[in-house]
Amino acid sequence: MFIAFEGGEGAGKSTQIELLKNYLTERGHDVELTREPGGTPVAEAMRDYVLNPANTIDALEECFIIATGRASHVAHRIRPALAAGKTVITDRFVYSSYVYQGIAGGLGLEKAKRINEPAIDGCEPDLIILLDIEASTGVARARQAKDGGDRLDQASMAFHEQVNAGYRTIVDDRWAVIDANRDVAAVFDDIVHVMTDRGLCA
Ligand SMILES: Nc1ncnc2c1ncn2[C@@H]1O[C@H](COP(=O)(O)OP(=O)(O)OP(=O)(O)O)[C@@H](O)[C@H]1O
Ligand SMILES: [Mg+2]
Repeated sequence: MFIAFEGGEGAGKSTQIELLKNYLTERGHDVELTREPGGTPVAEAMRDYVLNPANTIDALEECFIIATGRASHVAHRIRPALAAGKTVITDRFVYSSYVYQGIAGGLGLEKAKRINEPAIDGCEPDLIILLDIEASTGVARARQAKDGGDRLDQASMAFHEQVNAGYRTIVDDRWAVIDANRDVAAVFDDIVHVMTDRGLCA
Protein backbone atom coordinates (compact mmCIF):
# COMPACT_ATOMS: atom_id res chain seq x y z
CA MET A 1 0.00 0.00 0.00
CA PHE A 2 1.24 3.44 -0.97
CA ILE A 3 -0.07 6.55 0.78
CA ALA A 4 0.92 10.14 0.09
CA PHE A 5 0.30 13.12 2.36
CA GLU A 6 -0.06 16.53 0.78
CA GLY A 7 -0.87 20.01 2.06
CA GLY A 8 0.67 23.40 2.61
CA GLU A 9 3.32 24.40 5.13
CA GLY A 10 2.32 23.57 8.71
CA ALA A 11 -0.76 21.58 7.70
CA GLY A 12 0.32 18.82 10.06
CA LYS A 13 1.67 16.27 7.58
CA SER A 14 4.70 15.20 9.64
CA THR A 15 2.60 15.06 12.82
CA GLN A 16 -0.16 12.93 11.29
CA ILE A 17 2.26 10.65 9.42
CA GLU A 18 3.98 9.76 12.70
CA LEU A 19 0.60 8.93 14.28
CA LEU A 20 -0.45 6.86 11.25
CA LYS A 21 2.84 5.01 11.22
CA ASN A 22 2.33 3.95 14.85
CA TYR A 23 -1.30 3.05 14.22
CA LEU A 24 -0.53 0.87 11.21
CA THR A 25 2.54 -0.72 12.83
CA GLU A 26 0.37 -1.82 15.78
CA ARG A 27 -1.93 -3.45 13.24
CA GLY A 28 0.83 -5.48 11.64
CA HIS A 29 1.95 -3.26 8.77
CA ASP A 30 5.62 -2.99 7.96
CA VAL A 31 5.66 0.80 7.50
CA GLU A 32 8.30 2.71 5.59
CA LEU A 33 8.22 6.50 5.97
CA THR A 34 9.79 8.69 3.36
CA ARG A 35 9.55 12.25 2.08
CA GLU A 36 9.88 14.53 -0.91
CA PRO A 37 11.84 16.27 -2.05
CA GLY A 38 14.22 13.55 -0.90
CA GLY A 39 14.04 9.90 0.08
CA THR A 40 17.34 8.78 -1.46
CA PRO A 41 20.84 10.26 -1.09
CA VAL A 42 20.76 12.00 -4.48
CA ALA A 43 17.24 13.30 -3.92
CA GLU A 44 18.15 14.56 -0.43
CA ALA A 45 21.07 16.49 -1.95
CA MET A 46 18.64 18.03 -4.41
CA ARG A 47 16.30 18.85 -1.53
CA ASP A 48 19.08 20.74 0.25
CA TYR A 49 19.78 22.69 -2.91
CA VAL A 50 16.15 23.55 -3.63
CA LEU A 51 15.27 24.53 -0.06
CA ASN A 52 18.41 26.62 0.54
CA PRO A 53 17.37 30.30 0.73
CA ALA A 54 20.78 31.25 -0.74
CA ASN A 55 19.87 29.69 -4.11
CA THR A 56 17.87 31.51 -6.76
CA ILE A 57 16.03 29.16 -9.10
CA ASP A 58 12.88 29.60 -11.11
CA ALA A 59 9.87 27.28 -11.19
CA LEU A 60 11.06 25.41 -14.29
CA GLU A 61 14.47 24.64 -12.80
CA GLU A 62 12.91 23.72 -9.48
CA CYS A 63 10.46 21.40 -11.22
CA PHE A 64 13.21 19.57 -13.11
CA ILE A 65 15.50 19.28 -10.09
CA ILE A 66 12.72 17.88 -7.89
CA ALA A 67 11.52 15.57 -10.68
CA THR A 68 15.05 14.20 -11.05
CA GLY A 69 15.14 13.44 -7.34
CA ARG A 70 11.67 11.93 -7.63
CA ALA A 71 12.83 9.54 -10.35
CA SER A 72 15.47 8.29 -7.93
CA HIS A 73 12.97 8.13 -5.06
CA VAL A 74 10.40 6.13 -7.03
CA ALA A 75 12.89 3.71 -8.61
CA HIS A 76 15.23 3.12 -5.69
CA ARG A 77 13.09 3.58 -2.61
CA ILE A 78 9.32 3.48 -3.19
CA ARG A 79 9.06 0.63 -5.70
CA PRO A 80 11.51 -1.66 -3.86
CA ALA A 81 9.68 -1.07 -0.55
CA LEU A 82 6.29 -1.82 -2.13
CA ALA A 83 7.73 -4.92 -3.79
CA ALA A 84 8.94 -6.07 -0.36
CA GLY A 85 5.36 -5.85 0.93
CA LYS A 86 5.82 -2.67 2.93
CA THR A 87 3.29 0.08 3.50
CA VAL A 88 4.94 3.20 2.15
CA ILE A 89 3.90 6.61 3.47
CA THR A 90 5.44 9.60 1.77
CA ASP A 91 5.44 13.13 3.15
CA ARG A 92 4.63 14.89 -0.17
CA PHE A 93 4.74 13.40 -3.66
CA VAL A 94 4.30 14.52 -7.27
CA TYR A 95 1.21 16.58 -6.42
CA SER A 96 3.42 19.03 -4.53
CA SER A 97 5.15 19.75 -7.84
CA TYR A 98 1.82 20.17 -9.60
CA VAL A 99 0.84 22.76 -7.02
CA TYR A 100 4.09 24.47 -5.92
CA GLN A 101 5.80 24.73 -9.31
CA GLY A 102 2.84 24.18 -11.64
CA ILE A 103 -0.06 26.18 -10.21
CA ALA A 104 1.34 28.56 -7.56
CA GLY A 105 4.79 28.78 -9.18
CA GLY A 106 3.36 29.76 -12.56
CA LEU A 107 4.88 26.95 -14.62
CA GLY A 108 1.42 25.60 -15.40
CA LEU A 109 -0.16 22.36 -14.27
CA GLU A 110 0.21 20.62 -17.64
CA LYS A 111 3.93 21.35 -17.89
CA ALA A 112 4.50 20.16 -14.32
CA LYS A 113 2.65 16.94 -15.19
CA ARG A 114 4.65 16.37 -18.37
CA ILE A 115 7.99 16.90 -16.62
CA ASN A 116 7.04 14.47 -13.86
CA GLU A 117 5.41 11.74 -15.92
CA PRO A 118 8.64 9.81 -16.63
CA ALA A 119 9.79 10.33 -13.02
CA ILE A 120 6.76 8.63 -11.45
CA ASP A 121 6.45 6.19 -14.35
CA GLY A 122 2.96 5.07 -13.34
CA CYS A 123 3.77 4.70 -9.63
CA GLU A 124 0.58 6.18 -8.17
CA PRO A 125 -0.55 6.16 -4.53
CA ASP A 126 -3.56 4.11 -3.43
CA LEU A 127 -4.63 7.07 -1.31
CA ILE A 128 -3.62 10.72 -1.21
CA ILE A 129 -4.52 12.57 1.96
CA LEU A 130 -4.83 16.32 1.57
CA LEU A 131 -4.52 18.14 4.87
CA ASP A 132 -6.50 21.18 3.85
CA ILE A 133 -5.57 24.21 5.92
CA GLU A 134 -6.02 27.95 5.89
CA ALA A 135 -2.72 29.41 4.68
CA SER A 136 -2.41 31.81 7.62
CA THR A 137 -2.97 29.03 10.17
CA GLY A 138 -0.49 26.69 8.51
CA VAL A 139 2.21 29.33 8.12
CA ALA A 140 1.77 30.44 11.75
CA ARG A 141 2.20 26.84 12.92
CA ALA A 142 5.25 26.31 10.73
CA ARG A 143 6.85 29.56 11.90
CA GLN A 144 6.40 28.59 15.53
CA ALA A 145 8.01 25.23 14.84
CA LYS A 146 11.11 26.46 12.99
CA ASP A 147 13.26 29.51 13.10
CA GLY A 148 13.85 31.35 9.86
CA GLY A 149 12.35 28.77 7.58
CA ASP A 150 13.53 27.45 4.24
CA ARG A 151 13.29 28.99 0.79
CA LEU A 152 9.71 27.86 0.22
CA ASP A 153 8.52 28.77 3.72
CA GLN A 154 9.63 32.31 2.98
CA ALA A 155 7.23 32.63 0.05
CA SER A 156 4.51 35.27 0.35
CA MET A 157 1.15 34.60 1.97
CA ALA A 158 -0.42 34.99 -1.49
CA PHE A 159 1.75 32.08 -2.69
CA HIS A 160 0.67 29.91 0.23
CA GLU A 161 -2.97 30.77 -0.52
CA GLN A 162 -2.46 29.73 -4.15
CA VAL A 163 -0.92 26.47 -2.95
CA ASN A 164 -3.99 25.66 -0.85
CA ALA A 165 -6.42 26.69 -3.58
CA GLY A 166 -4.32 24.75 -6.11
CA TYR A 167 -4.56 21.52 -4.16
CA ARG A 168 -8.34 21.80 -4.10
CA THR A 169 -8.44 21.98 -7.90
CA ILE A 170 -6.46 18.76 -8.48
CA VAL A 171 -8.22 16.34 -6.14
CA ASP A 172 -10.02 13.33 -7.61
CA ASP A 173 -11.56 10.23 -6.08
CA ARG A 174 -8.20 8.81 -4.99
CA TRP A 175 -7.86 11.75 -2.63
CA ALA A 176 -9.32 12.32 0.82
CA VAL A 177 -9.64 15.97 1.75
CA ILE A 178 -9.39 16.48 5.49
CA ASP A 179 -10.04 19.71 7.35
CA ALA A 180 -6.66 20.25 9.01
CA ASN A 181 -7.63 23.47 10.83
CA ARG A 182 -8.73 21.36 13.82
CA ASP A 183 -6.78 19.76 16.66
CA VAL A 184 -4.38 16.88 16.06
CA ALA A 185 -6.71 14.18 17.43
CA ALA A 186 -9.71 15.28 15.34
CA VAL A 187 -7.64 15.26 12.17
CA PHE A 188 -6.19 11.85 12.94
CA ASP A 189 -9.67 10.43 13.66
CA ASP A 190 -10.71 11.46 10.15
CA ILE A 191 -7.62 9.85 8.62
CA VAL A 192 -8.39 6.53 10.34
CA HIS A 193 -12.04 6.76 9.24
CA VAL A 194 -11.06 7.36 5.63
CA MET A 195 -8.61 4.47 5.63
CA THR A 196 -11.14 2.15 7.23
CA ASP A 197 -13.91 3.19 4.81
CA ARG A 198 -11.63 2.45 1.88
CA GLY A 199 -10.61 -0.93 3.25
CA LEU A 200 -6.99 0.14 3.75
CA CYS A 201 -6.75 -0.75 7.44
CA ALA A 202 -8.62 -3.09 9.75
N1 LIG B 1 -3.78 20.06 14.37
C1 LIG B 1 -2.81 20.85 14.87
N2 LIG B 1 -3.10 21.88 15.65
C2 LIG B 1 -2.14 22.68 16.17
N3 LIG B 1 -0.80 22.54 15.91
C3 LIG B 1 -0.45 21.53 15.13
C4 LIG B 1 -1.41 20.63 14.55
N4 LIG B 1 -0.75 19.72 13.79
C5 LIG B 1 0.55 20.03 13.88
N5 LIG B 1 0.75 21.10 14.68
C6 LIG B 1 2.02 21.77 15.00
O1 LIG B 1 2.27 22.65 13.92
C7 LIG B 1 3.64 22.57 13.53
C8 LIG B 1 3.70 22.08 12.08
O2 LIG B 1 3.21 20.74 12.04
P1 LIG B 1 3.88 19.66 11.08
O3 LIG B 1 5.35 19.78 11.15
O4 LIG B 1 3.27 18.35 11.38
O5 LIG B 1 3.35 20.20 9.68
P2 LIG B 1 3.87 19.87 8.22
O6 LIG B 1 2.65 19.84 7.36
O7 LIG B 1 4.71 18.67 8.26
O8 LIG B 1 4.73 21.16 7.91
P3 LIG B 1 5.88 21.37 6.81
O9 LIG B 1 5.19 21.50 5.50
O10 LIG B 1 6.53 22.64 7.24
O11 LIG B 1 6.78 20.17 6.90
C9 LIG B 1 4.31 21.64 14.52
O12 LIG B 1 4.86 22.43 15.54
C10 LIG B 1 3.18 20.80 15.05
O13 LIG B 1 3.42 20.35 16.35
MG1 LIG C 1 6.67 18.35 7.67
